[in-house]
Amino acid sequence: MGNCLDSTARVDAHAISASGVSKNSSRTIGFSAPSGLTTPSRSSLSLPTPRSEGEILSSPNLKPFSFNELKSATRNFRPDSLVGEGGFGYVFKGWIDENTLMASKPGSGMVVAVKKLKQESFQGHKEWLTELDYLGQLHHPNLVKLIGYCLDGENRLLVYEFMAKGSLENHLFRRGPQPLSWATRVKIAVGAARGLCFLHDAKSQVIYRDFKASNILLDADFNPKLSDFGLAKAGPTGDRTHVSTQVIGTHGYAAPEYVATGRLTAKSDVYSFGVVLIELLSGRRAVDKTKVGVEQNLVEWAKPYLGDRRKLFRIMDTKLEGQYSQKGAYTAASLALQCLSAEAKARPRMSEVLAALEQLEAPKNAPKLSPIEHQMSPTSASKFHSPVNLKPSSSPFLSPRQGVRTR
Ligand SMILES: Nc1ncnc2c1ncn2[C@@H]1O[C@H](COP(=O)(O)OP(=O)(O)OP(=O)(O)O)[C@@H](O)[C@H]1O
Ligand SMILES: [Mg+2]
Repeated sequence: MGNCLDSTARVDAHAISASGVSKNSSRTIGFSAPSGLTTPSRSSLSLPTPRSEGEILSSPNLKPFSFNELKSATRNFRPDSLVGEGGFGYVFKGWIDENTLMASKPGSGMVVAVKKLKQESFQGHKEWLTELDYLGQLHHPNLVKLIGYCLDGENRLLVYEFMAKGSLENHLFRRGPQPLSWATRVKIAVGAARGLCFLHDAKSQVIYRDFKASNILLDADFNPKLSDFGLAKAGPTGDRTHVSTQVIGTHGYAAPEYVATGRLTAKSDVYSFGVVLIELLSGRRAVDKTKVGVEQNLVEWAKPYLGDRRKLFRIMDTKLEGQYSQKGAYTAASLALQCLSAEAKARPRMSEVLAALEQLEAPKNAPKLSPIEHQMSPTSASKFHSPVNLKPSSSPFLSPRQGVRTR
């Protein structure tokens, strides 16, 4: 069983090197909601209990900033401080004092990313608040750290730890940065799986709903962290099998049954994870309008090759220049295929996906550790508290030797 708590990732808020400006064109898209579906009230979003706007904003983990403070932290939102743009708004690099968290002189103190909501953003206040609600409460090495926020008149901003290497999207698809090595791709897949697993196995399950390459941010050591919780939803409770909700997400990543019916489950995230796994293997975007025919849709194009050991090389990223483990690539491709099963129930759980991916990461000649030894090894020691509740697995990817880890 994959251990969602298992991580050596460190928060790297001090990293200074920027990844360069990324002008983002892939937007979060609201699909038209299928008729007869209800959009639940905000109360069902909260974790662990519904919280009012006042409660969310007074979270002890979040620092309220004034607009002027963030203005000086980012040199007046100067264009050369801009590091990216998404559907929500613009992201700027800024500096704050590590101890007081007050804006500091640019270039001194701690680097932060300041996200400024576009006034015309249709995602707006509700998503801004959902982000604060979740990231104010959830803490894990594979989730980006939210430091604070600004609510000042019409202005809505969010202040995060700065992720020195930017997004996975920048590294996989843009020309410029060094291509990601196979080992780094595996590391990113494992860390991102750990982040999702943490959300899914939390006592109050969280469905992330916007898993995609641009929402996986990388620190200076390429440790991945999930960002953007504006679309996150509380998972079904009691006897319910799904949450019925407005269909919103990103084309190419959203699970087909969710798009068709508005029924959301953790398995929708598993589907999106499968899409990102193929992006990591192929170096191609989930949707690429510059291509023709079937090649526009990565899943459609890649699916026939994923389960074929001899043909898999045809979809592998040429930027890898053949420098990858064929066995590892085949395992990852088979895993992706399972994640992309048309039937949600046939998809593995994220804990199973994580366990399978962790096998790819394990150094070949390292002595095999028993589950007990592994629990005690420094790399698997949990350094933080979380509400994770691991359940036994029926994973097809686990060998009988692997025990279920419990805490
Ligand atoms: N904490 C951060 N540290 C460093 N760079 C960041 C950080 N947050 C965002 N970025 C950069 O800004 C870009 C835009 O991020 P944003 O989350 O606004 O949009 P997106 O995820 O690219 O698109 P979408 O709106 O569809 O989610 C990211 O792709 C990344 O390059
Ligand atoms: Mg994003």
